[in-house]
Amino acid sequence: MKRINLIAFSSLIAIAASATAASADKLTLYCSAQEDWCQLMARSFEDATGIDVNMTRKSSGETFAQVKAESSNPKGDVWWGGTGDPHLQAAEENLTESYMSPMRDQLHDWAISQAEGADNKTIGIYSGALGYGYNTDLLAANNLPEPSCWRDLLKPEYKGHVQMANPNSSGTAYTTLASMVQLFGEEEGFEFMKGLHSNINQYTKSGSAPIKAAGRGENTIGIVFMHDAVKQAVSGFPVKVVAPCEGTGYEIGSMSIISGARNMDEAKKFYDWALSADAQNLALQVNAFQVPSNRGAETSPSAPDMSTIKLIDYDFKTYGSSDERKRLLQRWDEDVSTLPQ
Ligand code: G6P
Repeated sequence: MKRINLIAFSSLIAIAASATAASADKLTLYCSAQEDWCQLMARSFEDATGIDVNMTRKSSGETFAQVKAESSNPKGDVWWGGTGDPHLQAAEENLTESYMSPMRDQLHDWAISQAEGADNKTIGIYSGALGYGYNTDLLAANNLPEPSCWRDLLKPEYKGHVQMANPNSSGTAYTTLASMVQLFGEEEGFEFMKGLHSNINQYTKSGSAPIKAAGRGENTIGIVFMHDAVKQAVSGFPVKVVAPCEGTGYEIGSMSIISGARNMDEAKKFYDWALSADAQNLALQVNAFQVPSNRGAETSPSAPDMSTIKLIDYDFKTYGSSDERKRLLQRWDEDVSTLPQ
């Protein structure tokens, strides 16, 4: 009898223990900024709140595709970081939730405009200008001239020396495609992408990979956000950063809560925390030189000075719309990526 009671008692304890484990606060975070920044955000939020974070880093286009594929059975709670266009597309396709954070009055206008254009289903967390960087040692070793404009990259002497990401997977590369279309007009923009294609040595999956490869001496010129090139230079690699002479596009890196998030309370806690100046200041620990969206957060003196860069008036409404993003990507797949190199 005593033995039976003991067995019953220990199974009760086991049930109670598993119930506690199941109800432990947790958050599934999809992250599309740099891997080291994603890790730091996840660990710092855990330290600040005791909520366990399960974080995966994937590029912006890939995360959009994953959120869409999982929409009937959502697995992610918050999507933090990555370029704004796929976040806007997710909002339009109702893959993300409206949320009015009490932190909004601390943010720059550009972060709020991003939210207002999307029924508050996304919000700006940082911004950064597109450009490119090159490895100065490799450029000199190959007797190549220093490029300073977008059109310079079409010169035949750069054949095999230029790398960018694939615009389907990468938000950086989609920003490049949409910026060329806005800067030069659609037909000329696509002619530019075709010309560039002949000089490209590889289309990577992730947006910042081309400049990391340049830092390591495995590639000469990488088309990336300027802050990603600055990170390589500040880390001691021989990388020079270029703000192209014709002008350039930029991103509003964004954050969204995924529709039907299983951990909605935790998702909102993360969202509010990620908009705070303290959380945004973490960027400086990993040399993430984007401009933060919280007006009280610090911008590093090493960050590209947006006021000195010739920026186009990037049309987020158009290029973040579902139809336009699909159309441009399809045209790039058909007209550019299939050309011989
Ligand atoms: C880098 C940049 C971010 C950008 C992100 C997009 O991490 O530092 O500012 O939002 O790339 O990544 P993706 O791989 O989608 O181009």
